[in-house]
Amino acid sequence: MADFPVIRKDSADKGIVIEDDWPGYGLDLFTYPEHYRGDLENVYIPHGVIVNRTECLARRIVEDMEDRHVVALCVLKGGYKFCADLVEAIKSVSCNTARHKTVRVEFIRLKSYLNDQSTEDLQIIGPEDLSVVRGKAIVDTGKTMRALLQHVETFQPKAVKVAGLLVKRVPNVAGILPDYVGFVIPNRFVVGYALDYNEYFRDLNHICVISEQGKLKYRL
Ligand code: HPA
Ligand code: MG
Repeated sequence: MADFPVIRKDSADKGIVIEDDWPGYGLDLFTYPEHYRGDLENVYIPHGVIVNRTECLARRIVEDMEDRHVVALCVLKGGYKFCADLVEAIKSVSCNTARHKTVRVEFIRLKSYLNDQSTEDLQIIGPEDLSVVRGKAIVDTGKTMRALLQHVETFQPKAVKVAGLLVKRVPNVAGILPDYVGFVIPNRFVVGYALDYNEYFRDLNHICVISEQGKLKYRL
């Protein structure tokens, strides 16, 4: 049986910490698309755990948010699942309460990875009008997030908050972290739940570690 990850969560809730030695769950314990057989090392964060953690973040967001009108800015493509689940959770947590929200969703597209490596070349393609912003899947060096926040600030929103499902333990060169963090993970390349390796694995529900076979099979 797989060990449980060492999960620490302090009262300030800076994210559930997954330690460096967490081996992941055995693939035989879960269902996943047949076409990825052999391409994965383990199930790193099961889909159900992601969904529940997203609900926890949604509760905090609703408690913290004064405004009734929210614009969720979804960072494509890797953030689409997290954004969709977070927006649904915000609606279901807040509906029929005094804190109910209207949530408009906008999309922005960023691309900076080739194979499993970050490239210097970052493109931002986005909507013309923004006011309040949430929803990003991975924060590692923080460089992308800083560039995105600078872009968003030019629209002079009333308030900007960032939610990130995963933050990697790497030197954060930009020195900024999301306001709402799902999990803090080691510096490993992960796929699934909309996160890709050269456009593959977005159709996997769990967050998994890719195997050497998988890297070779889908390498560009
Ligand atoms: N997986 C997929 N895309 C990414 C990652 C990752 O671990 N880090 C940054 N973009
Ligand atoms: Mg990608």
